[in-house]
Amino acid sequence: MIETIRKLVETYGPSGHEGQIRDVILREIEGLADEVSIDALGSIIAWKRSGKPDATTIMLSSHMDEIGMIVTHVDKEGFLRFANIGGLYPNTLLGNRVLFADGTIGTIGVDAEVSATSTPKLSQLFIDASNGKKHTVKVGDAAGLHRTLEVRGERLIAKSMDDRIGCAIQIEVMRTLKQCPHDVAFVFSVQEEVGLRGAQTAAYAVAPQFAIAIDVTRTGDTPNGYKMEVALGKGPAIKIKDSRMLASPEVITLMEKAAKAANVPYQREVLIQGSTDAASMQLVRAGVRAGCLSIPCRYVHTTSETVDRNDVKNAVQLLMKLLESPVKV
Ligand code: CO
Ligand code: ZN
Repeated sequence: MIETIRKLVETYGPSGHEGQIRDVILREIEGLADEVSIDALGSIIAWKRSGKPDATTIMLSSHMDEIGMIVTHVDKEGFLRFANIGGLYPNTLLGNRVLFADGTIGTIGVDAEVSATSTPKLSQLFIDASNGKKHTVKVGDAAGLHRTLEVRGERLIAKSMDDRIGCAIQIEVMRTLKQCPHDVAFVFSVQEEVGLRGAQTAAYAVAPQFAIAIDVTRTGDTPNGYKMEVALGKGPAIKIKDSRMLASPEVITLMEKAAKAANVPYQREVLIQGSTDAASMQLVRAGVRAGCLSIPCRYVHTTSETVDRNDVKNAVQLLMKLLESPVKV
């Protein structure tokens, strides 16, 4: 699974620019689904069918897009001003590197007027894409953060764990799941970081009875960290609430039962800030019973998003048990 994770987290794919990561995922899931389609926004919908006419439809969704930046101005030297794609923290950017679709690596600098101790505004940062020759970057080009996967014991560190780790979990479930009593739509959604958009249209197409997002969540286990119960290594977290949704009680119960039956540890999550595809899936058509299985992650939306691989493994086992068990609507 680690090689799949490496491929996913190291691939370019800011929101709205998911072509490269979509191709990587399509190759990973080749031969694993009964049907694969790509919707108008670009999300992948991969079905595993039960073969039964009255089967329950369950949708899983993880987002393939990542946060990034979009070029708003280019000067003739190759210094770029940019706006955010999704939630960027200006105080994490200086000195970092970014990757454009064509492979160009940019470095982030800051205006000299900003003192070394203060937080710059996004407008005071620039991307240096100069190359001593003619550069190719233009207004509207998008960049993602650039960083390789690192392994430190049980900890996996990368940019875009949010939410490529969810994509990796879905791929692993697709690889492992043989017979399933449900029709399962594995969705790899686009444009989550700019408003949970891809999962919304995909959920309309899938029309599920149950929908589960698989995404990262924050933790409270760092020095002077958030007051939050979730910690790395204590199991995947079953979302109860975040800033945009109250998880459907039926889905919370389904996941808690599956965790107990699979004998995997789990945590209960209340997240004050942030949300996932589950919030948009819940509100399509006449409403969908929706929830989220969260992977605890430190330093979300930085180049060093950190997860524990035991939580990842346990999330796969929990989902396997859930999909193999009967559910009542
Ligand atoms: Co995010
Ligand atoms: Zn996410």
